[in-house]
Amino acid sequence: MMVATAAACGDSGGSEGSGSGDDSIVLGFSQVGAESGWRTANTKSIQESAEEAGIELKFADAQQKQENQIKAIRNYIAQRVDVIAFSPVVESGWDTVLKEAKDAEIPVILTDRAVDSADDTLYETFIGSDFVQEGRLSGEWLVEEFADAPGPVKIVELEGTTGSAPANDRKQGFGEAIAADPKFEIIASQTGEFTRAKGKEVMEAFLQAHNDIDVLFAHNDDMGLGAIEAIEAAGLVPGQDITIITIDAVRDGMQALADGKINFIAECSPLLGPQLMELVEQVHAGETVPKRVVTEETTFTQEQAKEALPTREY
Ligand code: AHR
Repeated sequence: MMVATAAACGDSGGSEGSGSGDDSIVLGFSQVGAESGWRTANTKSIQESAEEAGIELKFADAQQKQENQIKAIRNYIAQRVDVIAFSPVVESGWDTVLKEAKDAEIPVILTDRAVDSADDTLYETFIGSDFVQEGRLSGEWLVEEFADAPGPVKIVELEGTTGSAPANDRKQGFGEAIAADPKFEIIASQTGEFTRAKGKEVMEAFLQAHNDIDVLFAHNDDMGLGAIEAIEAAGLVPGQDITIITIDAVRDGMQALADGKINFIAECSPLLGPQLMELVEQVHAGETVPKRVVTEETTFTQEQAKEALPTREY
């Protein structure tokens, strides 16, 4: 029987000792937070998949704070869970706690986001998207779309959480793609912390500082949706006066794309739960798993969003 324990701030709940007294695998999972539509869909996928697989899930929401994740992981080690999985808020600073898990012989799976540890024996596998490729596909679409436009093409960028793998990698991939033509110029770049509220706030500041923005590249849909509110409040038409590119393809983003307010979305799938549970079972059984499992993803134009929306799962 599965028991899903939801707790905040690294307090993972549950009893001391491994498991629930039966033979089910106990998985301690530390989630980033609830900052976006993507994250909500990701949490749901993990909770539902654990239940379907008969895996006992201890779940902690880190509220976008690394110290909460470290605390949650230490709690899972103390409870002697069978497997630990987590989606690291930021890339750096994990070696000590990962070493503690390794010393306790508890296998660790990275989901969604990478760590920058030089020692890859500190975790079993990393399942998630290719964030560099998402940024690159976004930039390549822009280069093609604006092929005949005269320069300069002035871009503002809403970055994800500072120091996180998706923020670092999407920036890198996008930057590499637009370097194909020097007419593309990033005139402002700031974190919107992957949230709608912060995306709106930062876009307001961008609009006040610059009256010549051609393009917005937002590292996720939620920040793009917040920015759309700011653009409309400034009397501009999103998708027309300012071309908007985002990443994720959650339902609200896809709706804005279908409505013509966003111009292009690179997909990032949050549905990692089923594959994660398979990996949990495999590492628990001592099987060898691939060190990297990359999620399959696509991209969407406005026409493609209209077709995909009716059957979109999240
Ligand atoms: O790590 C995945 C990213 O985190 C998603 O793109 C974003 O929406 C989320 O907050």
